[in-house]
Amino acid sequence: MNTLKDISVNNKSVIIRCDFNVPMDGEKITDNSKIVKSLDTLKYLLNNNCKIVILSHFGRVKSEEDKTKNTLKFVGKELSNLLGVKVKFISACYGEKVKEIVDNSSLGEVILLENTRFMDYPEKLESGNDLDLAKYWASLGEVYINDAFGSMHRAHASTAGIAKFLPHAIGFLVEEELNKLDILIHDTPRPFVVFMGGAKVDDKLPIIKSLIDRCDYLLLGGGIANSFLKAKGANVGESIATNDEEILNELKELMDKYKEKIKLPIDFTIDNGIIYDIGNKSINEYKKYIDSASIIFVNGTCGKFEDDRFTEGTKELLKALKESGVKVIIGGGDTASAVKKFGYSNDFYFISSGGGATLEYIADKTLKALEWMK
Ligand code: 3PG
Repeated sequence: MNTLKDISVNNKSVIIRCDFNVPMDGEKITDNSKIVKSLDTLKYLLNNNCKIVILSHFGRVKSEEDKTKNTLKFVGKELSNLLGVKVKFISACYGEKVKEIVDNSSLGEVILLENTRFMDYPEKLESGNDLDLAKYWASLGEVYINDAFGSMHRAHASTAGIAKFLPHAIGFLVEEELNKLDILIHDTPRPFVVFMGGAKVDDKLPIIKSLIDRCDYLLLGGGIANSFLKAKGANVGESIATNDEEILNELKELMDKYKEKIKLPIDFTIDNGIIYDIGNKSINEYKKYIDSASIIFVNGTCGKFEDDRFTEGTKELLKALKESGVKVIIGGGDTASAVKKFGYSNDFYFISSGGGATLEYIADKTLKALEWMK
């Protein structure tokens, strides 16, 4: 697989796939980390006098109305501020007009096309990895760079199919992710501790199953912990937890098989009978495993940290992780947003920009889009 410095980009038109699916509150970007992390590659391309054509998705597009909500326009403005150059935003991502604007742009210009998932309605062309669409996007440049680590667990036209039609390489962001996450895949130092939190256990069961054999302790929080507690027979009422009987059975089997490894919270912050966070006793208990670890992987939060009443568990966990001095790798998504919210952005060994992608990479040791880059 080529990395950016392996291929010639000088004075070329480069199509780059970024993951600019950033959290937003109305028109305001609430966490620009993914954009900031893409700057090294973009600056390298600018220094090489490239014409840069950026593709990214934003949210999911399942109706005409979603197209008005899920525009990349505001991302274009933020990118322009961060990069210090004008970013030409085109309010479409497909068609003759788009091609004409791109073809008439000069070397040294930065162009951002509208959300690639606009091609998911009425037909799922982007998500369906439609090769005609991939070929069209490939026709806009001479080289393809994939720097969208957070989207590489999706084999879509802009993340996968397009690589079929152009010389291609991964960008610096993806290269760093693969290098840093490698320690969780090969020769992982022991004790290896994993914290899993967040809402849904259903999505995270494959990674839990993959990591349980490889780690020494699995500490649980959030809705995931509630699901395990429910599987054990605890009454969690209306708290977030799975209702899927098959999954509950699987969780029970895991707890029977790995009793010594799986650690559940012992106290909670409860409001109206609903569990929203884990308590201090649980964090103190988890500290023992955290302090004895050689490496820790964290995915998910302890509770509903976005609500100021339920920040304590997540904040205290992050504090304990920081104070341990252990090498900590933070999975992206909500976990990365919590790290930023509580001011710990510079305190950990690595904060991944991927959510689902990080989990898939660690579990499967590859990513769907990466397979198209070989
Ligand atoms: C993310 O934010 O996790 C990535 O951008 C992937 O988004 P998706 O789950 O909508 O594909």
